[in-house]
Amino acid sequence: MKISIIGSGYVGTTVAACFADLGHDVVNIDIDEAIVETINDGDAPIHEEGLPELVADHAGPDGTGRLHATTDYDAVLDTDVTFLCLPTPQNDDGSIDLSIMEAGAKQLGATLADKPDWHTVVVKSTVVPGSIEETITPILEAESGKTAGEEFGIGMNPEFLREGTAVHDFLNPDKVVLGADDERALATMHEVFDPLVSQADAPVVETDTRTAEMIKYANNAFLASKISLINDIGNICKEFGIDAYEVADAIGLDDRIGEQFLRSGVGWGGSCFPKDTHAIISAAEEQDYEPIVLKSAVELNDRQPERLLDLLDGHVDVAGERVAVLGLAFKPGTDDVRNSRAIPVIEGLRERDAEVVAYDPVATANMREHFPDIEYADSAVTALEGTHGAVVVTDWDEFAALDGEFDAMADSVVVDGRRIIDRREGITYEGLTW
Ligand code: UGA
Repeated sequence: MKISIIGSGYVGTTVAACFADLGHDVVNIDIDEAIVETINDGDAPIHEEGLPELVADHAGPDGTGRLHATTDYDAVLDTDVTFLCLPTPQNDDGSIDLSIMEAGAKQLGATLADKPDWHTVVVKSTVVPGSIEETITPILEAESGKTAGEEFGIGMNPEFLREGTAVHDFLNPDKVVLGADDERALATMHEVFDPLVSQADAPVVETDTRTAEMIKYANNAFLASKISLINDIGNICKEFGIDAYEVADAIGLDDRIGEQFLRSGVGWGGSCFPKDTHAIISAAEEQDYEPIVLKSAVELNDRQPERLLDLLDGHVDVAGERVAVLGLAFKPGTDDVRNSRAIPVIEGLRERDAEVVAYDPVATANMREHFPDIEYADSAVTALEGTHGAVVVTDWDEFAALDGEFDAMADSVVVDGRRIIDRREGITYEGLTW
C-alpha cells in the first residue's frame, strides 16, 4: 500500500520505517528539513534500537527504497492512507493540547481537497475520547470540503511502543487496535496491518474511534497505576523491613497480576505516563467524574522522590555538602529526561542546599537544559568523589557494576531508588522499598 505518515517524532519515524519493512511504500512528512534530510540520507533522526538498520535498508540517497521523507504535504495525494503521528502535549492545567493536531488536520484537509478519490486518515497520536469526532474530523471536513464516511474515511490506531524498544514492540505487538467509524476505513487499516498481523500472529481488536482513543489511555493509566500500587505496597514493605521485590516476585506468579511493571522505586516518568494520566484525569473531570484511583496513582508517584530524599536525610545532613545523583534519564536505554524522577530529586536536593553533582551515561546534555548550573560528572566514579551521599534514580546496567568506586565518597551513604546496586560492606545502603 502507499502510506503517508505525518510527523517524524519517535512514533512517526519508527512506524514509517517498520511499515516500509513490511513491504509498504511510505512517505514520511515533517516540517523539519533537517529530519527530512537525515531520513533521505538513510540515517535515523532519533536514537532507537534497530531503527538505523531499517532506515538504512529502506531509505537512502539513491531514492529507490520504499521509505522517503519530505516537507511537502502534497505527497499525501499519491498515497491511499495517511497516519497522523503528531505530538499531543499537555496544557499547564494538565489537559491535552490539541493545537498541533489541529494544525496538521487543517493542512491535511486542505491537501485532500485536491484528491478526487477516497482517502483514509488514521490518527495514531494519543488523543482523549471524542477528539476525532468532535475536533479532527470537523476540521478535515471543513478544509477538504468533503464528508467523512462518504468521501474520506477516518480511523484511530493507538500505539503501544516503548521508547528504546519501539522497533521491537512494533514488530511484536500484544495487540493491534483498529478503531474506525466506517467500513472502508476499517478495510484500509486491515490492508495496512495484514502483513504484520500474519507475521506476528497478533490479535486484532476492531472497534470505533472513540473506544480506540480510550483504549490507549486505559492501557497507560493501568500500567502507571500498577507501578504506583507496587510503590504503595513497597513503601509499606519498607516500614515493616520487608523486601518489596521478594513480595513482587511472588504476587507476579499470579496470572491475574502478572510479573511485569512490578519494579517498585522512585516512580514513573517519561513523555507518556505523566502526560496521559493528567490528560485523562482532566478529561474525566470535564465530564464531572473524579477518577480517584488514578489521581492517587499520580499523587503517590509525585511523592516517591521525596521519600527517597527522606531516607537520605535519615543518615546525613546534606546542607552545604556534595551529593551525587546517579542517573538522569527517565529510564535506562534513552537520553530522554522528560518528567524524569531525577528532576524532583535534584530540586529536593537543592532545596536542602546540597551541592549536586550528576552523572548519566547519555542524558547529561538534555538535563543541562533543566539545570544549567549544577555540576555534571563524566563518570559515576568522578560523580561519587568526595560526596556525602549518593542517590540512584535510573537503573542503568553500569551502576550494578559499581563497587570499590563508593570508597571515593566522603560519607558512603547510598540511597537506591531502582534496586540496581547490591548491598555491600563499607557503604550505608538504603533501598527505597526494600
Ligand atoms: C509507555 C508504555 O509502556 C508504552 O506502551 C506506550 O506506548 C508509551 O508509554 C506511550 O504512550 O507512548 P515509555 O514511556 O517509553 O512507554 O516507558 P516505559 O518503559 O513504560 O516506562 C515508563 C516509566 O515507568 C519509566 O520511568 C520506568 O522507569 C517506570 N517503571 C517501569 C517503573 O518504575 N517500574 C516498572 O516496573 C516499570
